[in-house]
Amino acid sequence: MTRRILLLPGDGIGPEVIREARRVLEVVGDRHALDLAFTEANLGGVAIDREGQAYPSTTQSLAREADAILLGAVGGPKWDSLPASQRPERGLLAIRSDLDLFCNLRPALLFQELAEASSLRAELVAGLDILIVRELTGGIYFGEPRGIHTRDDGVREGVNTDRYSETEIRRIGRLAFEAARKRDGRLCSVDKANVLEVTMLWREVMESLSGEYPDVALSHLYVDNAAMQLVREPKQFDVMVTGNLFGDILSDIAAMLTGSIGMLPSASLNAESRGLYEPVHGSAPDIAGQDKANPLATMLSAAMLLRYSLGALEAADQIEQGVAAVLAQGLRTSDLSAGDAQTGALGTRAMGDAVVAALLAQSPAQ
Ligand code: IPM
Ligand code: MG
Repeated sequence: MTRRILLLPGDGIGPEVIREARRVLEVVGDRHALDLAFTEANLGGVAIDREGQAYPSTTQSLAREADAILLGAVGGPKWDSLPASQRPERGLLAIRSDLDLFCNLRPALLFQELAEASSLRAELVAGLDILIVRELTGGIYFGEPRGIHTRDDGVREGVNTDRYSETEIRRIGRLAFEAARKRDGRLCSVDKANVLEVTMLWREVMESLSGEYPDVALSHLYVDNAAMQLVREPKQFDVMVTGNLFGDILSDIAAMLTGSIGMLPSASLNAESRGLYEPVHGSAPDIAGQDKANPLATMLSAAMLLRYSLGALEAADQIEQGVAAVLAQGLRTSDLSAGDAQTGALGTRAMGDAVVAALLAQSPAQ
């Protein structure tokens, strides 16, 4: 059975990291006879330039047909002056919404070799393994009314609306409880229920679900405290569940704890586990086209793709082992090395070569 993988390289460093991730997918795909068929389409700024829209209809039909989607990154200074509704980022929001990818999984896992690269002391992060479950198709990112308008008194005003229905909260909550059940059984729900009604409802729904999951210990934190706890004592967390905006912010913090945002993959799933997979790092326009980007987060996203959308668990494990192997060999891209070590840092392509070599060196039975 052919599996259709849609590649959306996007902007900035996107094309460079996607190229390397595709190579590793091809290697493990061949080994496991996965019969992967790749197509490519435009999303974000590159789509605006080539097709006049951030999420063109050609991309939309390919996305709807694909078994899974691997995305690089979108956005960059070139498109910063466009009105909000036409920016590259809107393409990303549009595809998430179009495919109903409400469940965003962002695992922050520390590879032991990178403990020294973390912004926290090594002992605070050794063994770190957090899963952030972010609601991705609701909340203030999508709530109406929104916009910038001029009031009757002539003063301009910007408006966004944070809005969550019980149904939306319950469906992400369930997935978070299920995830916690398969891990260490601890779920921390993050809200701002001391101020925002929308998150008072969020907390109430999480509480009501907890009766169905007696094996999961549910706790709650306000988002400001959660941000502080993440940098104070991150290992207290197992699974965190939160809304769209808080999840965006907390996942960047968690990423940095693992050594570099260049290491963090993500999966965005709908109710049928069809998904879009992307590194959390974004388009990094400052280093785009310079062969400096770290491709590992995209490779780890490809591993998640194999696991969640194709059910190819062994192939997924192999990619993760391949990434661990190159780190164990001491190989680093520049985001992972400090000071003098930067001079010996590998470029994007060389890091891709190293992971491919590590995969080929794995015993077939692995
Ligand atoms: C992310 C990104 C996006 C988001 C941007 C590019 C729209 O920061 O995936 O975390 O805010 O969701
Ligand atoms: Mg973000």
